[in-house]
Amino acid sequence: MAELLFTPFRLGPLTLRNRSIRSAAFEGMCPGQLVSEDLVNYHKAVAEGGIGMTTVAYAAVSQSGLSFDHQLWLRKEAIPSLRTLTGAVHKAGAAASIQIGHCGQMAKTSISGKCFSPSGRFNLYGPTWPRAMKKTDIRSVVADFRQAVTLARESGFDAVEVHAGHGYLISQFISEYTNKRRDEYGGSFENRSRFMKEVIGEVMDSAGSDVAVLVKMNLRDGFSGGMELEESVEVAKILANMGVHALVLSGGFVSKAPMYVMRGRMPVKVMAYYMHEKWMSPFVKWFGNILMKPEPYTEAYFLEDALKIRKAVKIPLVYVGGLVSKAGIEMVLGEGFEFVQIARALIHDPAFINKLKTGELSVSGCNHANYCIAVMYSGKMACYQNEKDRSERWLKYLEG
Ligand SMILES: Cc1cc2nc3c(=O)[nH]c(=O)nc-3n(C[C@H](O)[C@H](O)[C@H](O)COP(=O)(O)O)c2cc1C
Repeated sequence: MAELLFTPFRLGPLTLRNRSIRSAAFEGMCPGQLVSEDLVNYHKAVAEGGIGMTTVAYAAVSQSGLSFDHQLWLRKEAIPSLRTLTGAVHKAGAAASIQIGHCGQMAKTSISGKCFSPSGRFNLYGPTWPRAMKKTDIRSVVADFRQAVTLARESGFDAVEVHAGHGYLISQFISEYTNKRRDEYGGSFENRSRFMKEVIGEVMDSAGSDVAVLVKMNLRDGFSGGMELEESVEVAKILANMGVHALVLSGGFVSKAPMYVMRGRMPVKVMAYYMHEKWMSPFVKWFGNILMKPEPYTEAYFLEDALKIRKAVKIPLVYVGGLVSKAGIEMVLGEGFEFVQIARALIHDPAFINKLKTGELSVSGCNHANYCIAVMYSGKMACYQNEKDRSERWLKYLEG
């Protein structure tokens, strides 16, 4: 039987050489909020490793949207080095995408300068105490998304992925848990989705006919009181009607259900060790397993929910979540998804796709220990299963 994964496929104005996309997974390689050589080399390696399109993760559309040190802020100064990155990716035969977002209540004020959210409630996971957004803030962020698409095009990207999930700003507006506004941006679903519609309207207009637009959205927020599938079906229909080229179907909420996105357990001691705010380390060590409650992992864990969106819209859909084997990828594509996104298997091995193609591998060595997430504050991407990335300090703990 012909392999579904290795057929070229259209995505809006693009044709990808195959149906795999490197999922946006924060690299932490942007000191000073600018691109480093490590970031260029990582995406070059993923492109050389056979991916159809690679995604630079979590670029903030404005300074106020920054939540991490070493996070990219998409601005004029970043264009030259981003051009180097996209040039290297294109040379290796892949397309390049950039995830654009704003973190809202997750902002780190020492770099963002301010912190706002739809309703300005205390956020334990920052911890932050954001102020409620004014209409001028809303207009300004919407304009920033528009500008980000222009900057992405100038940087040589073929696509942008709008981050509308995981409890970041757009998702904070959609979710009743974080949106308690009483104006036209809060209350009914129509009102809670208004900010997203304004952002996507500007993004689509700015993208024109040459930049592909993907939107990463939640299937469910992953906790009681958060968004559920009934509303995400409506979100998907709105986005399809607005003409976006593909939806990336994910779930989870950083400030309430962080492990719902990736499943498994967070190695909290490792994370505590690398926290920049040292005063937070004991807090994370002691309460980490309560705040980042483990979630059971199974391969393709979002499939059942994602199929409900498949039934509701006709536009291309990208499946993401727990793909580690060729059989799993072929199964998901066989269920009617146009593309697959992969994060952890490519952190473990950037050449995963080529190895599936040559038959050198049929299953990734990634075992979802989630060490890669725990070291996010360290300014590097690391997989403890790889000899070069290992810290002996953590082996006993992670393997025990
Ligand atoms: C280290 C790490 C960082 C991540 N950072 C982001 C991010 O910046 N933006 C995003 O949308 N998802 C992020 N994710 C989630 C992934 O994109 C993906 O949705 C999730 O890991 C499930 O895919 P996988 O099972 O192939 O890893 C991150 C995941 C990991 C492991």
